[in-house]
Amino acid sequence: MKKIYVSRLLTDNVLAKLKDHDDIEFVVGEEAPPNRQTLLKQIEGCDAAIVCLTEKIDDELFEAAGPSLKVVANVAVGYDNIDLAAAERHNVTVTNTPGVLDGATADHTMAMMLALTRRVVEADQFLRDETEWIWGPRMYTGLDVSAGAVMAIIGMGRIGQAVARRARGFDINVIGVDPTYPVGSIVAGVEIVPLEEALARADIVSLHMPLMPSTQHMVDEAFLTQMKPGSYLINVARGGVVDEVALMESLDSGHLRGAALDVFEGEPNVNPELLKYSNIVLTPHTASAGDVTRDNMCQLAVDNAVAVLEGEAPLTPVVVAQ
Ligand code: GLV
Repeated sequence: MKKIYVSRLLTDNVLAKLKDHDDIEFVVGEEAPPNRQTLLKQIEGCDAAIVCLTEKIDDELFEAAGPSLKVVANVAVGYDNIDLAAAERHNVTVTNTPGVLDGATADHTMAMMLALTRRVVEADQFLRDETEWIWGPRMYTGLDVSAGAVMAIIGMGRIGQAVARRARGFDINVIGVDPTYPVGSIVAGVEIVPLEEALARADIVSLHMPLMPSTQHMVDEAFLTQMKPGSYLINVARGGVVDEVALMESLDSGHLRGAALDVFEGEPNVNPELLKYSNIVLTPHTASAGDVTRDNMCQLAVDNAVAVLEGEAPLTPVVVAQ
């Protein structure tokens, strides 16, 4: 019987459907991530692994798994937790979950954008603090996104395009930056412009690129300085894309007006200094946390792992073993 290691509790709907595979043994972990020793022990001798972005998949893990391991199915579209070269060295297929989370992630981006620009979290806290108040024309004012605001989407892949469609529905002027498209081309109705131009023009800069060596700390002091004074930054991509210290310096100087962060450099640790800023909106990496979306992500990971074990092509491969 084939054995699939599942590092975390998947959604109830998907866990219930694992029973359909009576020829496969699923070894399912806990809600919390396994510690490294447990992970290395439990993966030994498995034929497949369904893992989350909380698990580091590297040479050590492939060695611990042994030659039976054929596929690692990540429950995420991003796969910066996986050493792809190590997967190739060990001839292991790697899959991710593209497509199924675009809408949820774009929805969350819009939620963060509106919460940030219209100061929803600050205003909510104000009332919870039982502050005495009376309506006033200067109270909690923020950027009118529908009054000619410009949004620059950095990374015009599926998620960036889904954000663009929503932003246009809010009458926002959207421009895009993406090195895979020539400057001047139109992607999903959005003009691709050079990064410097986007930063100079945008009231809101929203990040949707993967974390890789070329995007690590892409948002650094120089990037932030080029952003328009009084503009906002939204990061639902990966924490490592933003230099958080540089971001706080920019907020301190008043250059940036606010930021919304769903992902963090030291995740799951959040730099406690970030918590002091009332003009930073924070969520714990929940951009894809729609009920249906999480079912779809978990199911796609299961389907990928099962397909490979049944000798079929993976549905959404990142690396295909030879
Ligand atoms: C979540 O961050 C993902 O990459 O799916």
